[in-house]
Amino acid sequence: MQKIVIEGGKPLAGEVAVSGSKNATLPIMAACLLAEGECRISGAPRLTDVDTLGTVLGELGAKVEHRADGELAITVKDESKSTAEYDLVRTMRGSICVLGPLLAKRGFAKVSLPGGCVIGARPIDLHLKGLQALGAEITCEHGYVTARAQRLRGARVYMGGAFGSSVLATANVMMAAAMAEGQTVIEYAACEPEIQDLAEFLIDMGASIEGAGTHRLVIRGVRRMDGARHRVIADRIAAGTFLAAAAATGGQVTVKGAEIGHLAAVLDRFEAAGAELATADGGVRVEGAELRGADVTTLPFPGFPTDMQAQFMAMMVTAQGTSTITEKIYPERFMHAAEMTRLGAKINVRGNVAVVEGVERLTGATVMASDLRASAALIIAGLVAEGRTDVRRIYHLDRGYEDLVGALQKLGASIRREDEE
Ligand code: EPU
Repeated sequence: MQKIVIEGGKPLAGEVAVSGSKNATLPIMAACLLAEGECRISGAPRLTDVDTLGTVLGELGAKVEHRADGELAITVKDESKSTAEYDLVRTMRGSICVLGPLLAKRGFAKVSLPGGCVIGARPIDLHLKGLQALGAEITCEHGYVTARAQRLRGARVYMGGAFGSSVLATANVMMAAAMAEGQTVIEYAACEPEIQDLAEFLIDMGASIEGAGTHRLVIRGVRRMDGARHRVIADRIAAGTFLAAAAATGGQVTVKGAEIGHLAAVLDRFEAAGAELATADGGVRVEGAELRGADVTTLPFPGFPTDMQAQFMAMMVTAQGTSTITEKIYPERFMHAAEMTRLGAKINVRGNVAVVEGVERLTGATVMASDLRASAALIIAGLVAEGRTDVRRIYHLDRGYEDLVGALQKLGASIRREDEE
């Protein structure tokens, strides 16, 4: 196992290009199960989550090639196996998004129940409710969800849950409805940019979908979908992570390729915290001025993303004054707070609210990453801290960031990977 070693205290400077979006690529890869013929997805990031889903698709009869230029070529060769096994699904909850396409195309899907994870309970009731509304018979036994239907039928589905809409449940139901008989209306659909990107890909494959990017999707089912080409959108969370690292270290960084419209809530909170931002075509530049405390509440898009909450906290720990961070998507997603405290941060977590009292400085220590975004946040805190910080249990990082260490090195950070003793 490896760890990341950081000598902190240096402001970042320079330019960095953002990769393709992980959370757009994953459901788009699953959508390829619906196609006759080859799909080509360019800009797909090199991540272990992409590899894992590639392996899942391979077991489901698809030929998956991730070419050197980042293009993924996916062709279904054999539709006889429709089971996604526990050993793969447990490492990546995102693989649940094969459920809808398998069911719609093959009439049968058996997918391991993904289980809990360190960011809290992550149920799949909305996925199942939506597919049941389309006529699927669903059973959950022996740790697997099994769904069957001769042909799905369009229906009206309300997809709101206790925490708002669900991104991957919307993806699953939209993909299933694309090949159902008749019209489906999804009310309270997720409107994240990744869902819009998936809808565009499905439309290019032959689907009829209206309303992508709103809370109401109208889908008219088609009998056949064909292979298509698509370029995935830029990763708004990777972009935000670089901006947070730059602002936290008082650096000056331009993030190229970021889609400004996808980052509105993030940029708003950065400005509230005193970061100086300049947006230009194809990028955002941040100049880390003196940061001050700012409050943030995570919400579904277009609100502030939960996937940026930990990185924003890392920015706020040395800001002047107090910040209140309210987590409304995953109320327990605060594992990083205790680790930041080891670096000298003052954070008080009560339920789904973290109150951060800005301190003058952080000092390096050994910390343990709990999940993907916590890993990124601890790296940011390590870049701010004086002296050496070791971030351990970093395997999550490669699931969601394309060579983050290399990119930070290019921005002048003193950061490296080392084998753990
Ligand atoms: N929820 C339910 N029932 C369901 C599904 C979700 O109650 O059937 C709840 C969840 O527990 C949560 C809320 O709804 O409280 C929203 O979860 P959502 O379903 O939208 O999450 P997801 O689709 O499983 C995706 C991203 C996550 C990101 C969330 C929220 C992918 C592969 N994953 O997950 O990304 O945090 O949306 O934006 O797209 C990450 O990249 O680090 C990550 C965790």
